[in-house]
Amino acid sequence: MLNKLKMKNEMNIVIVGLGNIGSYFFTYLKKNKNIIFNKTNTTPIIRYVSARSFKKKRDFKISKKLWLENCLLAPKIKEVDIIVELIGGSDGIAKKLVFEALKNKKHVITANKALVAKYGDVLSRIAEKNKVNFEFEAAVCGGIPIVRSIKEGLIANNINKIYGILNGTSNYILSSMDKNKLEYSDALFNAKKLGYAESNPASDINGDDVASKLKILTALAFNSFIDNKSILVEGIKNIDQIDINNANQLGYKIKLVGVAEIEKNKIIQRVHPALIKENSYIAKINGVLNAVIIESNPVGKTVLQGEGAGPGPTTSSLVSDLCSVLRGNIKFPFVLPDKKRKFANFQSIKNKKFSVYLRLDVKDNHGILSDITKVLAKNKVSVKRLIQNPTINKKNASIIIITHKAKSSSFVNILSTLKKKSYIVNIPKIIRIEKI
Ligand SMILES: NC(=O)c1ccc[n+]([C@@H]2O[C@H](COP(=O)([O-])OP(=O)(O)OC[C@H]3O[C@@H](n4cnc5c(N)ncnc54)[C@H](OP(=O)(O)O)[C@@H]3O)[C@@H](O)[C@H]2O)c1
Repeated sequence: MLNKLKMKNEMNIVIVGLGNIGSYFFTYLKKNKNIIFNKTNTTPIIRYVSARSFKKKRDFKISKKLWLENCLLAPKIKEVDIIVELIGGSDGIAKKLVFEALKNKKHVITANKALVAKYGDVLSRIAEKNKVNFEFEAAVCGGIPIVRSIKEGLIANNINKIYGILNGTSNYILSSMDKNKLEYSDALFNAKKLGYAESNPASDINGDDVASKLKILTALAFNSFIDNKSILVEGIKNIDQIDINNANQLGYKIKLVGVAEIEKNKIIQRVHPALIKENSYIAKINGVLNAVIIESNPVGKTVLQGEGAGPGPTTSSLVSDLCSVLRGNIKFPFVLPDKKRKFANFQSIKNKKFSVYLRLDVKDNHGILSDITKVLAKNKVSVKRLIQNPTINKKNASIIIITHKAKSSSFVNILSTLKKKSYIVNIPKIIRIEKI
């Protein structure tokens, strides 16, 4: 196969999807064909492009002979070598296209994290069987070369933890709530206005986008299959300005983190907002930036930081994948051959211990504090720090408790008991404290 590719010196590409990412990638490739040839000794030829409609107004011209009306025909075209899927969505047309492409022995490059997180294992198996590449660097953290770093640069290492800020939109919202003292809804409005959040930003905000990326990273880092069952996924929409302000008073920043780690031979994956010490590296990652930290042996801690989304950074990763294919670098999509990947033991966070920030908005009556501490004590949770702030109307008070470490399940019990109390005026809130 390697010899065949080297002799050919050019490869035919179909780009499917000409939106934010596809249109930038298309233009880049047209302009930089010769540079890519110099680096790979193979010329990438854009043979066809396809999207929903030829008539749609675009910033660049597409000649009629380049247009493929039905993208699902691409896998059947003999001279096509590589299909670049830039449509999006875990199912529907993107799924059909990628499955058909790999089955028809076409190399596939995709930026589609939802698809890879859901079907990555089976797609990888087909690619391996048919000796073609299935590349997805652009699916995880835009321009940060995290996939290739795990697969190649860090191959000598045993990874025990991978974590970071994996979503630029939610990080922009949280950091602008902090910097500009904005409420969540205003920060989200600005994120949309600046083009950081899509018109439907649900998956950025509810944690699903981070979860997809984390699941892919977990499989790569721990040589496991992708696990969809035991991951904890919490988003940021319950964080308000009061929490941001309280966190600041206590010396923390609130960030949406994704963490995958091995504890006692079990893998725990979690996505949730967390209070992080303000002087830590992660707390200082602001705006749309992403950062991924890998703890592994023997290299120690490795940090990758950069633009996690947007057409330019994502194209950087797509071109990296493309060059890998053009060089004839056929590799196992998830580092190891399918037979050698592990059915790892995944565990929920139920037994994991955390310190937490507990915020209770209560009626300002006597005896409430002692009742709250009784509920905590009954669940074996002790108080490390307690602050009581009167609210503006002075009828209510906001009690902030920083706890010592206790099992996650204890906090679930505490919340369910406290929210039934007649003195509680808003749903009680817990944010985990993370030492990273
Ligand atoms: N945006 C980012 O910053 C970013 C970063 C990393 C990864 N990604 C991933 O990159 C992929 C593309 O994202 P995007 O932001 O470029 O999306 P987008 O702007 O919505 O573009 C989607 C493209 O898919 C085409 N399309 C939709 N349905 C189709 C169908 N049935 N048949 C053929 N084409 C169809 C659209 O065609 P028309 O143009 O004709 O409407 C459009 O060109 C997604 O998987 C996304 O998760 C995005």
